Amino acid sequence: MRGAIRSVCATPSAALPRTAAISISSSSLPTASRLSSTWANVKAGPPDPILGVTEAFKADQSSKKINLGVGAYRDENGKPYVLPSVRKAEEKVLASLSDKEYLPITGLATFTANAAKLAYGKDSKPLKEGRIAITQSISGTGALRIGGEFLARHYPHSKSIYLPTPSWGNHTPIFKDSGLEVKQYRYYDKQTVGLDLKGLLEDIKAAPAKSIILLHACAHNPTGVDPTQSDWQQISDVIKEKEHFPFFDMAYQGFASGDIDRDAFAVRYFVEQGHQIALSQSFAKNMGLYGERVGAFSLVTADADEKARVDSQIKIVVRPLYSNPPVHGARIAGTILADDGLYGDWLKEVKGMADRINGMRSELKGLLVNEHGSKKNWDHITNQIGMFAFLGISPEQVAKLISEHHVYLTKDGRISVAGITPHNVGHLAASLHAVTA
Ligand SMILES: Cc1ncc(COP(=O)(O)O)c(C=O)c1O
Repeated sequence: MRGAIRSVCATPSAALPRTAAISISSSSLPTASRLSSTWANVKAGPPDPILGVTEAFKADQSSKKINLGVGAYRDENGKPYVLPSVRKAEEKVLASLSDKEYLPITGLATFTANAAKLAYGKDSKPLKEGRIAITQSISGTGALRIGGEFLARHYPHSKSIYLPTPSWGNHTPIFKDSGLEVKQYRYYDKQTVGLDLKGLLEDIKAAPAKSIILLHACAHNPTGVDPTQSDWQQISDVIKEKEHFPFFDMAYQGFASGDIDRDAFAVRYFVEQGHQIALSQSFAKNMGLYGERVGAFSLVTADADEKARVDSQIKIVVRPLYSNPPVHGARIAGTILADDGLYGDWLKEVKGMADRINGMRSELKGLLVNEHGSKKNWDHITNQIGMFAFLGISPEQVAKLISEHHVYLTKDGRISVAGITPHNVGHLAASLHAVTA
């Protein structure tokens, strides 16, 4: 066999069989070969709006440039941050010399059990009764996709999912690709730069009974506008009255307020009220495990028998998608969640990230109002929560921030507050004032 390969490679082109000679000479005829390409009619898709911001930022040579497009935490010096608890957990994982065998289809059981406890609370009734079906997922995106696929196949009442307007840009393609029809409910009020609770409740009431309603559990992306606890109670009542199915996306537990229990309020309240929720969890932001892709998807079921049947169907969704999830990140997250010392450190570190973000919100607002004397109301910067602030500025003002001030953000006026530092907040405030005064 080896000899045969060598002899083909050594064959001079003149001595090649006729078909090979034709294919070589036709490659020098670009038009003909391009026209015959299988992919000739594939149209270029639009660039990802968020990654496009980073591309433009990279190309800018100004020393003042600031990238507030990407939703990833940065430290006081604008650098990526690996949590000390994550470093320690990773050392433990490495020291344990674990093998690299495949995980089961639904992932690392010690991780998923603790992820469920983190979200639902250790005293959660369905958790204690062993009726939460959970699988590890490829971070939050993967959890949403498993959930979408599962609901498209097994939710008996509707194929429509209602998203808030606006919502995270990936929600629509995730749910469409899962086979659901995507609809919308009002969420954000441009006038108040706050929650349109009235519109939200009206739209959820108007949706056909038993629709699927997607809810951001905390730190709504992109607006940073969350319902209050009493708003959540009203939302729960309407969802119950209409027998809708609530699907929570919790990508920021702990990252919003700095308190994991407070950020899980909506999820736990709905479960206490008897809703059979679906839940997507991500450990990208709250543990800084972005690229490790650690998440979980879970469903509250009625009893152990139903859970076993649901588990079996979740496996049938996952197996053809990616067989089983990656092991390393789940070991890190699982180690932190299972170890009292590391868990305590992690809680402090999540709070530290949330506090730094909230500190930057206050500083930015303070500079706009006190140093620049802005007459605009900037209260929403400190009222909003989580990684993002929705500035409530026009696309023209966004364009000016980018072209004249080297401040990069998404077209909708969303900034990642995690990208603001004590070094760049002055330039940001001056620029924002310049384009809004
Ligand atoms: C609302 C929301 N859901 C889900 C995700 C999923 O992120 P990941 O797949 O990185 O966990 C994000 C990330 O930005 C998000 O903002």
